[in-house]
Amino acid sequence: MMLEIDIITIFPELFGPFLETAFVGIARRAGSVEIRAHDLREWTSDRHRSVDDSPYGGGPGMVMTPEPLVAAIESLAGEKGPDRRAQVICLSPQGRPLDQERLSTLAAGPPILLVCGRYEGIDQRVIDLAVDEEISVGDYVLSGGEIPSMVLIEGLVRLLPGVLGNPDSIEIESFRGGAVLEGPQYTRPPVYRGLSVPEILRSGDHAAIDDWRRTQALARTRDRRPDLIRSQARDAERAHENEKLRLDHDDHDDDAR
Ligand SMILES: C[S@@+](CC[C@H](N)C(=O)[O-])C[C@H]1O[C@@H](n2cnc3c(N)ncnc32)[C@H](O)[C@@H]1O
Repeated sequence: MMLEIDIITIFPELFGPFLETAFVGIARRAGSVEIRAHDLREWTSDRHRSVDDSPYGGGPGMVMTPEPLVAAIESLAGEKGPDRRAQVICLSPQGRPLDQERLSTLAAGPPILLVCGRYEGIDQRVIDLAVDEEISVGDYVLSGGEIPSMVLIEGLVRLLPGVLGNPDSIEIESFRGGAVLEGPQYTRPPVYRGLSVPEILRSGDHAAIDDWRRTQALARTRDRRPDLIRSQARDAERAHENEKLRLDHDDHDDDAR
């Protein structure tokens, strides 16, 4: 199955080397993903090929106008609604923060159309009329949606079947299998500037190594991202409550019979 990704941008040239290099290039050449960057100005109709105008109500900067954006989105994805050809995602600091779970569902889902904002952002009517979802890559503001699109694409592509040489590397990474950070990793040489690789990693005892890695991962998560542990505990508690409710409900049904 091939994942299709279209991108609307005023700087398609930014995607050139990105689309040719490393796993994104490998995945494209292997036919696991097709990625096309479209120049928004192709959908303009004036002599200056303009895509922005000054904001109503005043204020600094320019805002992206609705006409070319909606025309581009509708020609690539169809009109908003259940029958459209692609899921339309606008990259925006105001969107839902991107996480590993969302990447997994997107990697398995329908074609994707990414909309890259520039200037002070996009006329709200584009979002209301033509966008399905807004996604943020973090609580900071960049100058455009192109790098956030690349973040999303790189995160997606490595999840596609057959792209990574060793699929196990996905399973043991940070944020997989319960949102825990991966522990420290080492390669040769065994001693570097007086710092040694932990003895256990060179012991050949795989059970002990697994155990050490789990302990390190948990310690690192507790130290750097205690919020992940708390949300994991909340999820487990919620799952337990739901299971209890389900069992109570089943008992009730049995009594009624
Ligand atoms: C300068 S930003 C506009 C910021 C907007 N005025 C605001 O305060 O929300 C221009 C474009 O960069 C992209 N962008 C900036 N920061 C982003 C982030 N953290 N996540 C995703 N996209 C971002 C969006 O496409 C946005 O439309």
